[in-house]
Amino acid sequence: MATATADALSKPAQEFLARGPGRHFIGGEWVESADGRMFETIDPATGEAITEMALGGPEDAARAVAAAREAFEGKWGATSPSKRSGLIWALAEAIKANLGELAELESLDNGKPLGYAKGDVAAAVSHLRYHAGWATKIEGETIPFSAPDVLAYTRKEPVGVCAQIVPWNFPLLMAIWKLAPVLATGCTTVLKPAEQTPLSAARLAELIEEVGIPAGTVNVLSGDGATGAALVGQPDVDKVAFTGSTAVGREIGAKCGRELKRVTLELGGKSPNIVLPDADLELAIKGSYEALYFNTGQVCNAGSRLFVHSSQYDEVVSGLAEAAKAARVGPGLDPETELGPVVSAEQHERVMGYIAAGRDDGAELVAGGGTPDGSNGGYFVEPTLFSGATDEMKVAREEIFGPVLVALPYDDLEEVAARANDTEYGLAAGIWTRDLSKAHKLAGMLQAGVVYINNWGMGDPASPFGGFKASGIGRERGHVGLDAYLELKTVIAQL
Ligand code: NAI
Ligand code: MG
Repeated sequence: MATATADALSKPAQEFLARGPGRHFIGGEWVESADGRMFETIDPATGEAITEMALGGPEDAARAVAAAREAFEGKWGATSPSKRSGLIWALAEAIKANLGELAELESLDNGKPLGYAKGDVAAAVSHLRYHAGWATKIEGETIPFSAPDVLAYTRKEPVGVCAQIVPWNFPLLMAIWKLAPVLATGCTTVLKPAEQTPLSAARLAELIEEVGIPAGTVNVLSGDGATGAALVGQPDVDKVAFTGSTAVGREIGAKCGRELKRVTLELGGKSPNIVLPDADLELAIKGSYEALYFNTGQVCNAGSRLFVHSSQYDEVVSGLAEAAKAARVGPGLDPETELGPVVSAEQHERVMGYIAAGRDDGAELVAGGGTPDGSNGGYFVEPTLFSGATDEMKVAREEIFGPVLVALPYDDLEEVAARANDTEYGLAAGIWTRDLSKAHKLAGMLQAGVVYINNWGMGDPASPFGGFKASGIGRERGHVGLDAYLELKTVIAQL
């Protein structure tokens, strides 16, 4: 397997790292943790430390929330919608101007292939541009009353200070999904990147400062789960937005429930991907491969349960096995790489544990299953495909979050819909068919926040995203995504 290290970085990315250990960005200042604690961020392709970052504690969280409050009540609160729109657009332009550097930092920190990291940064730019348009279009309504001489109307007001916690699978893009509606609605925030991938958010904070978004509007607090918990626990936080594991989502939801903080949660999945007998098989095989192995399977809406009609099961499974065996696994910064490592030693152990469980339960490995030769301390996993599993097996029920696909045969539509829905999750579902009437019928039967027909994973800043059941609460993107950052006030006047 080829290797590539931080030496392969461009000058701007090297200069960023040479600026030294990462600090928090609080109230427009770059600060260390109150107690001076630090943590290392690791290159998943080598297992070696890239740099150190400040590890935020309760005191830092309190300081960041106070800075966000001050900006909300001060400068940012007084910034007009049109000015906010201009600043969001300016941030998009700054990100675009530094696309290569941001993508390199992302690839180094997360392990994803550089080309995909560039795609993430480009998506972040589009996302900001879409939200720049919304800043000037947040309107209330006039409400018709039956009683005479009443003027009633609604106002949409920013919810206030937000705590936003993002995961490591799409570090920059998830940060932007969180920040864009904050900026559009006039809220302020403390953003906490994941401990595995803090670099792109630190670079983003520099760009936020550079474009002139007022100090305290966006604060970036680096740290781990305890830092996130300390942030959620701050009494002056009005709204929490979280993307990550269902276990932590439940914990955050419970905390917010006690204090009646507004909360949105974007959590895990075990999404069914269904190939109907009349599907274009070539398209379905290619799409189903991408549905799971994209980003090394570390995607909340990965199509991880592949249901194939028994008449075509062998053909689809062998097509996928062939593609999995041919995939070039390697470091993200190597231009030949198609599949990067998983993000951390912890995730590597978790994914390998699931592979062992699949074998122990009697599922058949038709591709992968191991750690590739020449991994040299990197967290690589072979693209893995299980056949012969049952719906009850751990590999078919639990979110693996790695390059492990489980193929399951079925015989009829009602049966496959019931099996697809037999999960605690409900994030995404996919349907491959030439029969569009059947596709829309099935789309109505599936319990999922998004249903893909003849594609997997397409999205747009305008299209809502989020889960049914244990996959989350609320939606991000689109105009509905803004509502999570707005309080609705009804004003009723007797004239
Ligand atoms: P996690 O849910 O622990 O971490 C996600 C984010 O939450 C990170 O920023 C982390 O620092 C923060 N966090 C952790 N504990 C917290 C707490 N008690 N309070 C506030 N913030 C907290 O996820 P982890 O441990 O990195 O991965 C475990 C599994 O979670 C994965 O195997 C995968 O199944 C799932 N996951 C799902 C993601 C998604 O996109 N829905 C993203 C990342 C992980
Ligand atoms: Mg965790």
